[in-house]
Amino acid sequence: MVQVKSPKSVARPITEEADFLKLKNIDHVHFYVGNAKHAMYYWWKAYGFRPVAYSGLETGNREFASYVLESGHIRFVLSSAYGPSSSLAAHHLLHGDGVKVIALEVDDVEKAFEATTSRGARPAWEPREERDENGRYRTSAIHAYGDVLHAFVDRSEYSGVFAPTYRPLEMEANSAGLVAIDHMVGNVQLGKMNYWVNWYHQVMGFRQLLHFDDKDISTEYSALMSKVMENGTGRIKFPINEPAEGKRKSQIEEYLDYYYSPGVQHIALQTGDIIATMEKLHANGIEFLRVPDAYYDLLPERVGKIKENLQSIRELGILVDRDDEGYLLQVFTRPIQDRPTSFVEIIQRRGARGFGKGNFKALFESLELEQEKRGNL
Ligand code: FE2
Repeated sequence: MVQVKSPKSVARPITEEADFLKLKNIDHVHFYVGNAKHAMYYWWKAYGFRPVAYSGLETGNREFASYVLESGHIRFVLSSAYGPSSSLAAHHLLHGDGVKVIALEVDDVEKAFEATTSRGARPAWEPREERDENGRYRTSAIHAYGDVLHAFVDRSEYSGVFAPTYRPLEMEANSAGLVAIDHMVGNVQLGKMNYWVNWYHQVMGFRQLLHFDDKDISTEYSALMSKVMENGTGRIKFPINEPAEGKRKSQIEEYLDYYYSPGVQHIALQTGDIIATMEKLHANGIEFLRVPDAYYDLLPERVGKIKENLQSIRELGILVDRDDEGYLLQVFTRPIQDRPTSFVEIIQRRGARGFGKGNFKALFESLELEQEKRGNL
């Protein structure tokens, strides 16, 4: 587990700062997994992602096998090691399947590296370029929480399918309508949320959008705290969670116990039509958390009029929340591997920019039922 240092440079209070990094988008999310071929099949057949590129022995990559899949603007990379000496194997031994790299698109990987490391980020790799007949693919990277890295990617002079050593795959997919990453949540240790909130502010130029304390997110048994950080454009949102003291074990502690370090808790994927998406995901066998049926009896009164058919919402187990600007629909999967660590959220926004605060209690109670079944509450 990577120990978090506490440099004074990131302990300053939050102030307004320019968006010096000018991040454009999440370029890709790179998972290290035990069996990349199986993981590829899962995202392809269950979530409707299209496999677009492959790297491995046949393409000159002697260390690991890797698949790139896309759905709308979402790009996932899944890699697994060919042998025990690879750092991917060590990562997998410790964490199981999980997110290793959250890659962010920038114009200048050197500037991004310089700007973040001079503000206290720990370097992962210096600016470098990989070349092939399709041009130059430039990256640099820094360490974030746990073993997670933020890579900076500039593909403006690269016309290949993903990066050097990757070759295109011609595969069809039955899209589930997932179009973009809405937010990605990090779980950190008790007492470390503010450290990472400050880190995202000072090192990355993010600002704090929202704050939920243990009164917002608590049940009879357990609690967590969360602050939402976003970049200058508001397009990239990284909530940071930490466990809070409760009568029993917080879901965040369960994550930390099984991931053996801080890491990515969930990735929220946007759809423009959650009913259609959920019908597909259910048919494909994805397992979702369900709240008690009473939730739906109270729903019309709580959220008022919505465009979606309430019967479909109930049948598909979709949660709804409203704020000043509109409403949102969301649903959460069970963990996407056997360890109770990362999961997926499906979200459709109809004006609301929040995170479903009105659903927290019902949701966490159903999550605790699952934790109890695992003997971890
Ligand atoms: Fe979320």
